[in-house]
Amino acid sequence: MAAANLSKPKTTFSLLFLARLSATLVAILVLTWALYFTASFLPHTLSHQDLIYSVLHPLLMVIGFIIISGEAILVHRWLPGSRQRKKWVHLWLQGVALACGIFGIWTKFQGSEGVVANFYSLHSWMGILCVSLFGAQWLMGFISFWHKGEVRISRVRVLPWHVFLGLYTYGLAVITAETGLLEKLTFLQSNGVVLKRCSEAMIVNGLGLWLAMLCGVVILTAVSPKQYYHSIPTTKGVYSDSKCFTS
Ligand code: HEM
Repeated sequence: MAAANLSKPKTTFSLLFLARLSATLVAILVLTWALYFTASFLPHTLSHQDLIYSVLHPLLMVIGFIIISGEAILVHRWLPGSRQRKKWVHLWLQGVALACGIFGIWTKFQGSEGVVANFYSLHSWMGILCVSLFGAQWLMGFISFWHKGEVRISRVRVLPWHVFLGLYTYGLAVITAETGLLEKLTFLQSNGVVLKRCSEAMIVNGLGLWLAMLCGVVILTAVSPKQYYHSIPTTKGVYSDSKCFTS
């Protein structure tokens, strides 16, 4: 039989396109908010350094942690080449996302009030849970990456848990960011710094909506069956699919 010509179906391309579009819009919105509406990030201390930390937190969490970890989840869907190469890029991108997450939280510890004065909000508790889970998951992935000789059956058993925990943590990161946006905007509005209906409120609400959209598309892309179109020259093309839970 002639060699099958494999080409990815349109669905994967559309989902990847939608994911990138959502990620781009999320990045534009958070950058616009943090860099254009700087007055909303002014700290009590009025110190320039504290202002930088205050602006860096949402930027690192949204672009560095959420968008990059989403891209790492999608690697298996678009990157050509060997499984080993995909795993390496996946691990590397998740490492960058984790570093941004840790640095992003660190920026909040730099305030003059110190660490103990923090952790009063649901947002901060969820943030710690989320980054801790992410770190544990990354460490497991790192260990398994360097133990290629491990019994294959145990790696296959662990994989569904890796997928579940990875997607759960990603969802948790988006929910944490939503609580951060809500907390910040509510704080600004109740202090009269920002009006209830104004361009800044629209940007922040839009950011929240596009984050929710991005989360849905990334998770859908990750769980949708990997489909390939086998076009066999003499007969009609047939679709085959395999679950994403293959190693
Ligand atoms: C995945 C995303 C995020 C994570 C994991 C996260 C994590 C955290 C953590 C752990 C804290 C507590 C630090 C402390 O109390 O010293 C914190 C504080 C804070 N975050 Fe986030 N954050 C995220 C996104 C955001 C976003 C998008 C905003 C929007 C501006 C934001 C605004 C704040 C604010 C205002 C505080 C200080 C008040 C508080 O502790 O609740 N965060 N964040």
